[in-house]
Amino acid sequence: MKVLAIIGSPKKGNSYRITQQVENHLKSFANSDKKGKVDLEFDYLFLKDANLEMCRGCFACIPRGEEKCPLKDSRADIENRILASNGIILVSPVYSMNVTWLMKNFMDRFAYTLHRPTYVNQKLMLLVTAGEVGIKPTLKALSNTMGGGYLVSKLAVKTPPFKYKPKYEERITRDIQKASRKFYRALKSDKPLPPTFWNVLWFQAFKTTSERNKHHFPADYNFYKDKEYFFYETKVNPLKTFVAKRMLSLSSRGFDKKFDTK
Ligand SMILES: Cc1cc2nc3c(=O)[nH]c(=O)nc-3n(C[C@H](O)[C@H](O)[C@H](O)COP(=O)(O)O)c2cc1C
Repeated sequence: MKVLAIIGSPKKGNSYRITQQVENHLKSFANSDKKGKVDLEFDYLFLKDANLEMCRGCFACIPRGEEKCPLKDSRADIENRILASNGIILVSPVYSMNVTWLMKNFMDRFAYTLHRPTYVNQKLMLLVTAGEVGIKPTLKALSNTMGGGYLVSKLAVKTPPFKYKPKYEERITRDIQKASRKFYRALKSDKPLPPTFWNVLWFQAFKTTSERNKHHFPADYNFYKDKEYFFYETKVNPLKTFVAKRMLSLSSRGFDKKFDTK
């Protein structure tokens, strides 16, 4: 079992320290697993050291395909590392009430995965550290990254410049353990997680849009044309598909009034 932690801090600071604690928990769960010791490889990708250039906003990847990105760097290698992992931990400290620029650039360079979810077999954990405020928008921003990764666990740890009283220190230790356990359980389950209604709505929204705008978004069109109910083979509750399609058909009336997509 492989876990990759993608660290968005420009230094090996608090976020790295908390991620190491998650790593230790995961390894201890794996070593003492009821069904016998589980092999768990834990790897780090420090965005500060990664060969990932700044997105230039050419907008080639989203409509035409990520292979059309003019930047020649390690984006594809990073994607392969993600795909070779069972679980991804996205880590960012809160800087100015949101993710760091390193994490935002990572999000932009992989923005095409929002249109064409790629990491459908990866379980996702989010980890945020903050002095005090801005945790909610940062978690929200992170949860919109990594199209397709199935979000299973969220952890936010406050790291003020002063020491916690022992009672609170214990609470934080417990929170870290709890979020790590949740992630470990999801990692161990090889059953595909059932798509939620929002997952189905997301899928149908992009599929419908790709069909209507196939000349503007050919990469999306090719991605969705052979997929009917979801990004991967799984059982989808037909009621979820029905309601999602109905909602989209209602909202598309306004769209058709406004835009000429031919
Ligand atoms: C440039 C900068 C901006 C920050 N902005 C916030 C903020 O908006 N809210 C907050 O609670 N903490 C803020 N902090 C504190 C960090 O979120 C906190 O110390 C975090 O644990 C740092 O993690 P790191 O050591 O991995 O970089 C900021 C820190 C820096 C360096």
